Amino acid sequence: MKRGPPSGLRELARIALDAREKAHAPYSRFKVGAALRARDGEIVTGCNVENASYGLTLCAERVAVFKAISEGIREFDAVAVVADSPRLAPPCGPCRQILWEFCGDVWVHLEDLKGHRRTLRMSKLLPLPFDDRNL
Ligand code: THU
Repeated sequence: MKRGPPSGLRELARIALDAREKAHAPYSRFKVGAALRARDGEIVTGCNVENASYGLTLCAERVAVFKAISEGIREFDAVAVVADSPRLAPPCGPCRQILWEFCGDVWVHLEDLKGHRRTLRMSKLLPLPFDDRNL
């Protein structure tokens, strides 16, 4: 049987909320924070970082993943994403692909500033993924 979500996801979202404050989003004004939890409990945060050349923008989730990977952290169990949006903001398509590559079928916990929240697995967000099994 598949397990339910792990504990501590509200706390992880709280940390993502703090990371969101660091967002560099002068163009969209849409701030996003992410907190990625490693299997050993270490937490790596990310925020979106925009650029005047819009297409160079990096999303909060990818910043968190790349920070973690660059620090040698390879095993993850959950990621929390916090944004202020009319509906809960799930990771965008490219972020789903990157999360799948490095985090596999982790739990994804979404929250907004009003306390709405939802927790689901990556495999729900990215069914039929393209990955190393296809190569
Ligand atoms: N953004 C994220 O940080 N994560 C997502 O999954 C969706 C979008 C950022 C990118 C851009 O800075 C702003 O939100 C508006 O798209």
